Amino acid sequence: MPSASSNPSLRSVRLERTFGDGATRRVALSGVSFDLYPGRLALLMGPSGSGKSTLLAILSGLLNPDAGQVLAWEDGAYVDVWALPQAEREAFRLRQVGFIFQGYNLFPAFTAAQQLEIVLRWGQNASASDARRRSHAVLEGLGLGGQMNKKPAQLSGGEKQRVAIGRALVKGSKFIFADEPTSALDWENGKLVLELLRREAHDHGATIFVVSHDSRMLPYTDIAYHLEDGHLSEMSRSSLGELP
Ligand SMILES: Nc1ncnc2c1ncn2[C@@H]1O[C@H](COP(=O)(O)OP(=O)(O)O)[C@@H](O)[C@H]1O
Ligand SMILES: [Mg+2]
Repeated sequence: MPSASSNPSLRSVRLERTFGDGATRRVALSGVSFDLYPGRLALLMGPSGSGKSTLLAILSGLLNPDAGQVLAWEDGAYVDVWALPQAEREAFRLRQVGFIFQGYNLFPAFTAAQQLEIVLRWGQNASASDARRRSHAVLEGLGLGGQMNKKPAQLSGGEKQRVAIGRALVKGSKFIFADEPTSALDWENGKLVLELLRREAHDHGATIFVVSHDSRMLPYTDIAYHLEDGHLSEMSRSSLGELP
């Protein structure tokens, strides 16, 4: 973990978000302020419907808050993500944000290597050979050296999620957001996903934010939060438990 003196990489300032109105009005976030740090894996827990996905979407530039700010550290200054014009916000996301979802979201017709290569070809204008070399290196690091040329239908759930992790990591994003990344996996594969994300945070300084309701993840995280009734609280260090 980095020293406690690192600047926060992502600051949430009094975020508010409500859905619907009248009888269907639901307050998802009610004044949520907290900081995320580089080199740490943060976990967000909370009951179903408590607003976890809403918060992840707001932090990652996908869903606008009703009020409040998301400040992301980039090149020595904070960028106010929701004050940017849409095109600039999308460019920021493309440059700095990687996503991992429960359902993998892989292209069925592409091999594991191609899922990563297209990110580099389209997102960074990398040459075909450079994209191939970097994609292979990332997949090797995720233990998928033997699966490079397989399509999603030929991969297990755990392997598919590792490819999705590779796709999020390959462009060198500073921020990785994962919404229930292990809920379709057995615990052995779920644990591996967390260990790989943790390694990315600790070895490369990425800021990782994982949403889950699985308390078995707690020992693998650096910090954990609980969201309920629109309010966020930090869970105590002792409630995270020890790594087995
Ligand atoms: N697009 C939407 N339209 C209306 N209500 C929504 C929408 N997205 C989420 N909600 C509501 O906001 C609350 C929080 O949802 P969500 O963030 O998905 O919770 P979680 O991820 O914790 O299960 C829920 O009551 C949900 O029904
Ligand atoms: Mg959700």
